[in-house]
Amino acid sequence: MNATKTFDVQKIRADFPILSTEVHGKPLVYLDNGASAQKPKCVIDSIVHTYEHEYSNVHRAAHALSAACTDKFEQARRTVQRFINAPEDREVIFVRGTTEGINLVAQTFGRANIKPGDEIVISAMEHHSNIVPWQMLCEESGAKLRVAPMDGTGTLIFDEYVKLLSKRTKLVAVVHVSNALGTINPVQQIAEEAHKVGAVVLVDGAQAAPHMRVDVQELGVDFYAFSGHKAFGPSGIGALWGRAELLEAMPPWHGGGEMIKSVTFEKTTYADIPHKFEAGTPNIADSIALGVGLEYLMEIGLDAMQAYEHEVFEYATQQLSAIDGLRIIGTSEHKAGVISFVLDDIHAADAGMILDEQGIAVRVGQHCAEPVMDFFKVPATVRASFAFYNTKEEVDALVKGIHKVKELFA
Ligand code: ALA
Repeated sequence: MNATKTFDVQKIRADFPILSTEVHGKPLVYLDNGASAQKPKCVIDSIVHTYEHEYSNVHRAAHALSAACTDKFEQARRTVQRFINAPEDREVIFVRGTTEGINLVAQTFGRANIKPGDEIVISAMEHHSNIVPWQMLCEESGAKLRVAPMDGTGTLIFDEYVKLLSKRTKLVAVVHVSNALGTINPVQQIAEEAHKVGAVVLVDGAQAAPHMRVDVQELGVDFYAFSGHKAFGPSGIGALWGRAELLEAMPPWHGGGEMIKSVTFEKTTYADIPHKFEAGTPNIADSIALGVGLEYLMEIGLDAMQAYEHEVFEYATQQLSAIDGLRIIGTSEHKAGVISFVLDDIHAADAGMILDEQGIAVRVGQHCAEPVMDFFKVPATVRASFAFYNTKEEVDALVKGIHKVKELFA
């Protein structure tokens, strides 16, 4: 199927006001979606609407505004539930983003269940946010961090991963789509193997949720975290999903209002999930807007979105590969969203600056994935990261921009 024929990208682009702005007098070509994606008007309008018409604290008051706001807030939780096909809405915890979701699991499930001599398995392509929380937990608990290797294409070496699993493995934490390489990991198979040794599986879904249909039941995982701001929602909000029985057994994390059943100076008992993990006033307007943004994506259709974006992505891969001196870092067979590359001896920061002058936004650097850069023996890469509103014309603009970089630094 030719997805570009059935997917009206210009109509989609019209929903994103920022895409029609100019940068340095040039039309914006936004290819930094992996860092943070742009927002459709409905998300922006939702934030304004909440503050102008419905804002109040949630779960607390007897008045009409609070009731309306609480309804919208809980509706957003149910939207997240549908978006990832979670069995129950109470399994969805609002967090600031993927990083907070992973830290929550490390510091609650981890502290309660990981003991000296236990092992946590991650992959060699993790973002720092799926490395550091586990290192901190290992330091505290006496557990050991094991790293499943990848090959020269940036693909997980599955057999080596399986060899690392043993009765000592208590948790496997793996990225669904690598932010630095674009590799899509076989999460379902990873989870199946982990479960054979009784380990629980956490998935960093930050770069997957914006690009594909996520079904936590089909994936068969135990925890899944993603960020609103990368999935076309607001920043400062995201979701952690966990299986109810695991969340119920976990101790709370932050203490405070709303996460309790009863408090006396002698003893506190805790609220049921999800509230046990949502101490303090939540990020109300952004949670509601996240729900609106996810509804928007579901209305467009995740499969149509993915098919169109993949076509643009394949085109970009072909066009960039054809540039003399450009080397793509991460050439796995299964990729989404991200093309990282190095260009002759040109420093990534210089390339980023020249591209910026042409209105082209990319990320340069280590992408919060220093071990990935070390593995590929590069100090940094230029990363073009795509969304379903990007076009082949924008890819052409990127290619032109790269030629300009080469001219200037030749
Ligand atoms: N994790 C984000 C990225 O990959 C910030 O750019």
